[in-house]
Amino acid sequence: VNMNLCGLCLLLSVEVCWLTVKVDASWWFMGSLGSRLVCDHVPGLVNRQRQMCRQFPGVMKVIGAGVSDWIQECQHQFRTNRWNCNTTNDHNLFGRLLLRGSREVAFLYSISSAGVVHSVARACSQGSLDSCSCDPGKKGRSRDDRGVFDWGGCSDHVDHAVKFSQMFVDERERRQRDARAAMNLHNNRAGRKAVRRFLSLQCKCHGVSGSCTLRTCWLALSDFRRTGDHLMRKYRRAVHLSINQDSSAGSPTGQRRGQELRRPSKHDLVYLEESPDYCVRDTESGSLGTAGRVCNRTSRGVEGCDVMCCGRGYDTARVRLRSKCECKFHWCCSVLCQDCDHEEDMHFCKGHT
Ligand SMILES: *[C@@H]1O[C@H](CO)[C@@H](O)[C@H](O)[C@H]1NC(C)=O
Ligand SMILES: *[C@@H]1O[C@H](CO)[C@@H](O)[C@H](O)[C@H]1NC(C)=O
Repeated sequence: VNMNLCGLCLLLSVEVCWLTVKVDASWWFMGSLGSRLVCDHVPGLVNRQRQMCRQFPGVMKVIGAGVSDWIQECQHQFRTNRWNCNTTNDHNLFGRLLLRGSREVAFLYSISSAGVVHSVARACSQGSLDSCSCDPGKKGRSRDDRGVFDWGGCSDHVDHAVKFSQMFVDERERRQRDARAAMNLHNNRAGRKAVRRFLSLQCKCHGVSGSCTLRTCWLALSDFRRTGDHLMRKYRRAVHLSINQDSSAGSPTGQRRGQELRRPSKHDLVYLEESPDYCVRDTESGSLGTAGRVCNRTSRGVEGCDVMCCGRGYDTARVRLRSKCECKFHWCCSVLCQDCDHEEDMHFCKGHT
């Protein structure tokens, strides 16, 4: 979708709009502090976030510990891409990458806000926080397509976690009225929606000889991998909102050929600017480059050496790998394996000369 700034702000429900970007630090930095987390020492918290940090120290520990989980998930999803979600030492973990409203940045905002929901909801139902517990709304009777059931067990308190994520994560952007803040808020929300999508009803059967005439059920979050997979699909189909800053007229201008004209839904990721190619190390754009990355010689995809190494070529090295082998089943019940070494050729992108 191509439009001017006003059109974009209307679309993303922001009243007044301009373009300013400043992301020198972010709450993401909490992830690198571990147990040393002291609210006054986290650069990048805005006032209200700092207040919440002091008010809910337990939740902050959970959010801080959760940072490495969603970063790991991001690195898993991008393991074969040129940009591989590696962090830097900057106070926002990704350096100047965040200055550009790219597709990768859209993914980062969505998975970070999803990560907060996931880790807070989990901590609530595990009873490790004073401020929340299992979802108190899930009590009494209810019904699903298999009939009536009783709420029992502990339902993950996702509503609470979503509210907390909204209050905390969105705080920095909520006060800004610019296109980039609108982009971030939209992607934060898409991330929270992605977690909700994979809530599922888990049930236990009761009744005579397992007849399942009585069921107790609870709502449970799925593995975070499913949220990661889902957001990765959304990343691939992310909607480009291109801002045409010189034109004051609101008419959408030329859509690029082959690009579908699509209005983003609340579940879509949106981005404002095209990505750098991430081929070479460039601190200005936050690109780490692909020198030294492993690539696949025979693949034609993004992990293939042609694409990954950006035409610079690759070096091949014979490396020794260890894996489990000759596994035997022993009665009862264990599986014992040997460690086997084998050698394999691996290919690594050359640096640029
Ligand atoms: C990414 O991080 C890993 C582990 O910290 C490091 O070995 C690798 O060189 C980094 N990759 C790039 C492209 O900087
Ligand atoms: C490399 O790519 C080929 C073709 O896509 C695939 O069959 C093979 O398993 C890949 N090798 C590795 C080590 O991933």
